[in-house]
Amino acid sequence: MSRATFVSKIGAIAAAAGSAVGLGNIWRFPSETAGGGGAFFIIIYLGCILFFGVPLMLSEFIIGRSSKSNAAGAFHILASGTKWKYVGRLGVLSGLLIMGFYMVVCGWTLHYIFQSVAGTLSNVPDFTANFEQLLQNPLKQWILMVSFTFLTAFFIISGVKKGIELSAKIMMPLLFLILIILAVRSITLTGASAGIDFLFKPKLENLKPSVFVDAMGQAFFSLSLGMACMITYASYFSKEINLTETALQVSVLDTLVALLAGVIIFPAAFALAQNQTTITSELIAGGPGLLFITLPGLFDQMPLSALWSTLFFILLAIAALTSTISLMEVVTVYIHEEFKLSRAKSVLIVTTAVIILGAFSSFSSVFFKALDFLTAKIMLPVGGLFISLFVGWHLDKKIIVAELTNENSKPVGVRFIKGYIFILKYLAPAAILAIFIYGLVG
Ligand code: PFF
Repeated sequence: MSRATFVSKIGAIAAAAGSAVGLGNIWRFPSETAGGGGAFFIIIYLGCILFFGVPLMLSEFIIGRSSKSNAAGAFHILASGTKWKYVGRLGVLSGLLIMGFYMVVCGWTLHYIFQSVAGTLSNVPDFTANFEQLLQNPLKQWILMVSFTFLTAFFIISGVKKGIELSAKIMMPLLFLILIILAVRSITLTGASAGIDFLFKPKLENLKPSVFVDAMGQAFFSLSLGMACMITYASYFSKEINLTETALQVSVLDTLVALLAGVIIFPAAFALAQNQTTITSELIAGGPGLLFITLPGLFDQMPLSALWSTLFFILLAIAALTSTISLMEVVTVYIHEEFKLSRAKSVLIVTTAVIILGAFSSFSSVFFKALDFLTAKIMLPVGGLFISLFVGWHLDKKIIVAELTNENSKPVGVRFIKGYIFILKYLAPAAILAIFIYGLVG
């Protein structure tokens, strides 16, 4: 089967970054940070990105480009006849389950675009009540999530690569710019310093064992790791692309967007909490509404608020779309290549499964939270653990060296390669296991 490749270097980075940067950074990161007590969560999160995020992204790139296959097929090609194929299948299942709740949040984003365009958002008397009204209407949430799922399916069917490249080239810089503007507005509000303290001054009493599990899960979720998404994308990478550089660039960009989201949400949430007591309870609980309650409050403090909120929620929806495309692509290509079904049929199957899961998530917040917990905090780290072990212990070292050096055309130090393999063999698996055990026992 002939497979297209991302021709340009920027195309490859754009696709991977498009997958990584999404609601995970702007919606999930702030609410996890709130639930995790602030600064300590962020420190552990950054540690996870550095110690296993970047090395694991590189590993997924190596597996994907060297096998040129989908999530499960890659393990079949590189480790034929072994049980490693279950790692790929676990990834496909994770992708499906993530879509089952992620699409609901995408639907919320659509709702906020409509409210912004109609001008109703800026006239809302209570932003918390406005969000809760949406939550109390499961049918509406479901219709919105179905719309977003169809939108994603449309892009998957019509061939995504050009679209992703274009959206990342234009959308990413724009999103970045608007985030910076919002961050400036947020930190200059009176009372904002409490939010900055919360983000950057660690308080020992906030350090619970669960914070480690939360931060690790968030790192995997945000970088799209542990479910073979980056394996699938890297299967389209051309052989000129420098994998180490790409993994670093994508991780740095993703982390910056998350931190910026934090710098927007927390100062604003603390500053505006004086007027809206409920924001504080969302803050303490790390509730899923944090973004959707705090931001309209922030726009309210800006001239031309409807314009800002429209622009922001549209960009957020596009960022979410490039992530849902990557999620749906993993599951679709798996069905298409493993069961030899047409792409259109594969998309139809995935779409149906997602909207059924989405119905449960829309009607039951318990189901929504369970899917979030199961995928981000358990399945992705377990997937990552096995991917790390696979590249560290099983994969032929010649393949690793060939991929890291672009088939000996780029010099890479022996120490770098040895250090990298050491991390995958021992450090990353031990750290992931230790966090699991500490989180469960502690
Ligand atoms: N990384 C995406 C985000 O932060 O929104 C979510 C995601 C996409 C997770 C793709 C996992 C994945 F494979």
